[in-house]
Amino acid sequence: MMRLFLAILGLFASLSLAGCIGDNTAQAYNVSTGGDAHQGRKVIEAYGCGSCHTIPGINDARGLVGPPLYFMSRRTMIAGELPNTPDNLVKWLKSPQSIEAGTAMPTLGLSDQEAKDAAAYLYTLK
Ligand code: HEC
Repeated sequence: MMRLFLAILGLFASLSLAGCIGDNTAQAYNVSTGGDAHQGRKVIEAYGCGSCHTIPGINDARGLVGPPLYFMSRRTMIAGELPNTPDNLVKWLKSPQSIEAGTAMPTLGLSDQEAKDAAAYLYTLK
């Protein structure tokens, strides 16, 4: 009887632990950009964003041309131009020149999905 009780207890413990881990992952990575943060890390590396920006968690991203991208999830504004919403961040990443003509950030040609993925990664920076 005791063994059965312990087995059931163990089962509940592992179920609730799995539940917790699942929730945290969802919160950390499925930000409402429609993108995927893991993919976004690759996009950021592939486009060389780190040559201009210091970006936590990205190899060799120590650029000093643009602002460091710490705390992107907590910024009020994007480039001092747009309220920091997922849609606006995606828009900025796809087409900074159309938002702020003459900014030193070039329009790099990110696809819709690449911009959403990169934005999802940036929103993991708390
Ligand atoms: C040639 C340099 C350069 C490259 C490459 C570049 N950026 Fe930028 N970025 C800038 C500059 C300069 C600004 C500041 C723009 C402004 O405020 O006018 C900026 C601004 C930003 C901002 C707004 C930051 C803030 O503090 O509000 C984000 C987010 C950003 N860049 C992300 C990226 C990502 C992601 C990539 C790669 C896909 C990238 N940048 C590539 C130069 C660059």
